[in-house]
Amino acid sequence: MTATAPARAVAYVDTGAVERNCALLKARLQDAELCAVVKADGYGHGATACAAAAVAGGATWLAVATAAEAADLRRDGVGERLLVLGALTRADLELALTADADLVAWREDFARLAAEVASGDRPARLHVKLDTGMGRLGTRDPAEALRVAAFAQAADTLEPAGLMTHFATADVLESRFFDEQLARFTPVAEEFRRLYPQAVVHAANSSAMLRSRGAHFDMARCGIAIYGLDPFGKDALEHGLEPALELHSYVADVKEVAPGETVGYGRTWSPPSPTNVAVLPLGYGDGYRRALSNKADVLIRGRRRRVVGTISMDNVTVDVGPDTDVRRHDDVTLIGAQDAERVSAEELARLADTINFEIATGISPRVPRLPPIAPRVP
Ligand SMILES: Cc1ncc(COP(=O)(O)O)c(C=O)c1O
Repeated sequence: MTATAPARAVAYVDTGAVERNCALLKARLQDAELCAVVKADGYGHGATACAAAAVAGGATWLAVATAAEAADLRRDGVGERLLVLGALTRADLELALTADADLVAWREDFARLAAEVASGDRPARLHVKLDTGMGRLGTRDPAEALRVAAFAQAADTLEPAGLMTHFATADVLESRFFDEQLARFTPVAEEFRRLYPQAVVHAANSSAMLRSRGAHFDMARCGIAIYGLDPFGKDALEHGLEPALELHSYVADVKEVAPGETVGYGRTWSPPSPTNVAVLPLGYGDGYRRALSNKADVLIRGRRRRVVGTISMDNVTVDVGPDTDVRRHDDVTLIGAQDAERVSAEELARLADTINFEIATGISPRVPRLPPIAPRVP
């Protein structure tokens, strides 16, 4: 993917890659359904476009975190079953039900509120959440989970639509806590299935889905993997996943820098010998993290070049060497591939001491998301 004209900062999103990633995950799921998680604007990739691509790739459900995200997808014409994963206030609940979304519930008082807000002709569909060890949303008490489901079954305006849990350590392959959570969930899931055979039982996120067939149940909720990012933080290509997003900018200027001279705030870098520095017109205001200062590489003319000096809100400086072939208006790849070189979101995450989720989701709204200009060469 190479830009033909300079763009200050642009994220090229290949929705074809999202579709192919979903098809690959769906094939691994066999009879279980794929729920594509498109919260936080599709992990920074664009929620509506990715939702459509995920459905084309075989996803039959979508999930978001907030009622407003559900309403946005409905406004954009998305018609699939849609689950709101987050906790909801009364106002959120009203919005989520207007968007005909399924809801997560684990307390009877919330179920009662949902029963009151929902109307008889369109019951609120509740997914009861068991907290098997994540320690966030959900009840730790299986009896409470079953009570909420029974309440939903008895109420005219509710429906027990699912039972779910969420894993805390599925991405840590050596962690046995994953197996403990699965062992806590499985008997409750069996009882729930017996009582509500029409409901859908789901537990797995991307890493759980890839690591354990036993975690698939009726559906897996996959986010990070559908975007071609590695849930284990290493290399997505090892799982056959295609990264869908590239982050590009361009060389706004090239200037000579001599030893003793510095670039950027705080004067954190000075060259040991004469060199040239390229200035890119994007920065942490675009989500290119300041923690990458003096650490990350970008790609220009097919080669890795080191980010030098402190990353600013709107500028990044890069050492392009003496006698440089780099010219003003050259395309710069900050995430993505040029020729044989590739800078992945996972690489940036390691350098910035974070996770690929945050690298992708952190690309700010100031960066337009566009389809790739040139089709990817396989
Ligand atoms: C409840 C829940 N399920 C599924 C997911 C998707 O996780 P992943 O992106 O690791 O596939 C998330 C994301 O954070 C989540 O909060």
